[in-house]
Amino acid sequence: MRRVIYSSHAHPIEQGELQRLLRFSQNWNEEFGITGLLIYYPADEFHPATFLQALEGELHDLEDVYAKISQDNRHEKLVLLANDEVRSRWFGEWSMDLRYLTTDDLRRALPGFTSANAFDAQDTKWIADASVAESLLNLYIT
Ligand SMILES: Cc1cc2nc3c(=O)[nH]c(=O)nc-3n(C[C@H](O)[C@H](O)[C@H](O)COP(=O)(O)O)c2cc1C
Repeated sequence: MRRVIYSSHAHPIEQGELQRLLRFSQNWNEEFGITGLLIYYPADEFHPATFLQALEGELHDLEDVYAKISQDNRHEKLVLLANDEVRSRWFGEWSMDLRYLTTDDLRRALPGFTSANAFDAQDTKWIADASVAESLLNLYIT
């Protein structure tokens, strides 16, 4: 069992398209035993929209899905943050689910976070950090 975590900058995307993307992903992932979570951080005046996604499954299935995702032109600048052998799933109940990240979530997950400074909200550098990504994903583990 492996877990892959990546972040990327998203091109502007409508809610309806995100929902369609989610349904498509759920169907595909269910068929291949993949579970995970997609976090979407909408753009504001300080930073571009950002995706953060965890995908769990067997190596071969993860390679296939990650290859598709990384070529998807709805985002760019993918940064692979983790690709680890793990003992158990964090998101075993979800073939994929979607959460919108808010400043409140960031405050909960990251001690000392203030939107303007501590984690460099200007260019979302903070999201390209595996331990920060894991803290954010951990907010949603049921
Ligand atoms: C942020 C993001 C997350 C995605 N997550 C998944 C996913 O978990 N599973 C999946 O099958 N496709 C996912 N996709 C969709 C794939 O990138 C791709 O569009 C889809 O598999 C259709 O590929 P095809 O046009 O080559 O058939 C995601 C796309 C984006 C932009």
